[in-house]
Amino acid sequence: MKIVGTGSEIPKKIVTNDMLSEFLDTSDAWIYPRTGIRHRHVISDEKLEDLAISAAKKALDNAGLSASDIDFIICSNVVNEYITPGLGCIIQGGIGATCPAIDINCACAGFIYALDIAETHFQAGKVKNVLIVCAEEPTRMTSWKDRNVCVLFGDGAGAAVLTAGDNIKGIKLSTASATDKLYQIRTLEPTPYITKQEESISLQMRGQDVFKFAVKASSGDIKYLLNELGMSPDSIDHYLLHQANIRIINTIRDFLGQPESKFPTNVETHGNSSSASCPILLDECNRNGILKRGDMLALSAFGAGFMSGAVIMEW
Ligand code: UT7
Repeated sequence: MKIVGTGSEIPKKIVTNDMLSEFLDTSDAWIYPRTGIRHRHVISDEKLEDLAISAAKKALDNAGLSASDIDFIICSNVVNEYITPGLGCIIQGGIGATCPAIDINCACAGFIYALDIAETHFQAGKVKNVLIVCAEEPTRMTSWKDRNVCVLFGDGAGAAVLTAGDNIKGIKLSTASATDKLYQIRTLEPTPYITKQEESISLQMRGQDVFKFAVKASSGDIKYLLNELGMSPDSIDHYLLHQANIRIINTIRDFLGQPESKFPTNVETHGNSSSASCPILLDECNRNGILKRGDMLALSAFGAGFMSGAVIMEW
């Protein structure tokens, strides 16, 4: 398959580090050097589904296709206002498509997992065009009293339209179960029979464990693919990494021995928007002319699970 269109939508509300320091014991002087984040876009009066639908419509427009051309929608989402139906169903109606839609929850690595599912459908001959939409509002998962976590995230949606082609050179997915490092727990409706202790817990993170996992998993996934394909890190033109933290990106870059110019970033202005991060960055690079047809791209994402994945593709 190949990507023939991209789109993204981000909330209009910009929250700077200085704005956070008005109600949290934090500062730009702490946040920026440790994360590379200056500000993030946070949902206020928007609905995540509307951002997702807008990103999807932009991707279709960019591809020169209409909703009726799409055979399958894969939506990557951790939380939104609905527990059911899935966000993919809402997007399907919102863009006026009639094809099947599924949701996946692969946290920040969702775009790579969605690409893998799409590729499998193309290989099976089941689809002609697929729409992937990654839409996330992690700012609704964190406690805004917890300076360890809430400063890191932003919201948004990114989408990509795929059609038949031979541009995906390889995909590597990795999962290593670790439920105590990065997690959120919600309580469900009580029943007369529940006797166990239950408690909602906002998004919790062991930052240094996640940092180490991210560097190891991302550089490992990319190196694995390069080896499989008989390629060297030099043969990749652009590395589009999950925008969690500039220090993670820089450490992976050092590990691969590649120049900064190959690593476009937007973490400074977006923060970590979970699975939406990669497709938003891809869309920005697509629209500002960074990507040229024939360029070799490596995308890599990592997050809760722990789940990670990488893809090497020709643009
Ligand atoms: O998709 C994956 C998502 N997650 C990530 O990418 C996160 C990966 N981890 C990291 O990027 C880093 O671990 C952080 C940026 C989250 C934290 O940096 P750190 O250098 O590992 O800091 P730390 O957690 O060891 O905390 C150092 C100090 C602590 O104070 P004490 O105990 O030394 O007095 C924290 O309480 O910094 C304090 N601290 C803060 N201070 C001001 C933690 N958060 C803040 C904050 N503002 N926002």
